[in-house]
Amino acid sequence: MATRVIIFLCTYAVAVLTQSVYFQPSGYYWREFSNGQIPSDAVAGGRDRAGNPTYIGQVYGLDLELLPATIIRGSPNATSTRHVSAIQTDKNIKILCSNEQHKFRWIPTTVGETYKLANCHLVNGGSEVNYFLHIGRVYYQSEVIIGKVNTDRPQAQGLAIPYNGLPVIFVSYQILAFDCQGL
Ligand SMILES: *[C@@H]1O[C@H](CO)[C@@H](O)[C@H](O)[C@H]1NC(C)=O
Repeated sequence: MATRVIIFLCTYAVAVLTQSVYFQPSGYYWREFSNGQIPSDAVAGGRDRAGNPTYIGQVYGLDLELLPATIIRGSPNATSTRHVSAIQTDKNIKILCSNEQHKFRWIPTTVGETYKLANCHLVNGGSEVNYFLHIGRVYYQSEVIIGKVNTDRPQAQGLAIPYNGLPVIFVSYQILAFDCQGL
């Protein structure tokens, strides 16, 4: 009986430890986004052509993906990229919120160099074909556009942003980190 309890506790501890790598620290969370309502604690990340802030969303994709997305104030939609297209939806959207916004950092990085950020918690943006996604942004065509970052998936590394109905890929971009020590 005692052995069983110990085995259970050990399994539980291992599960908690493995999950903590990808589970987010308590300082940020995803809220439901509907009817275009931006919560007051939403995390601004990008900028539209007029200079207005844009926000970080997450949408559910048809192949069980969970994709980082861009949310623009005044629209019920979130935009992301999936395979070879940009997608937009007004359903099943989450928006990144935080009560410790000063702990976010956008860190410049390049494909193949994310190992340098090993001491940082990179915000978990979702997953696609079993690879975790992070959140990135880039200055492009007078906007700062938020997109999804693959750091592990072979042949698909980098930042993908939706632009004019198509994904545009970048090898240098900024990646979103939370509560980084010593950077
Ligand atoms: C939102 O997305 C839907 C498709 O899901 C599209 O029909 C609609 O025009 C979009 N609305 C805006 C304001 O972009």
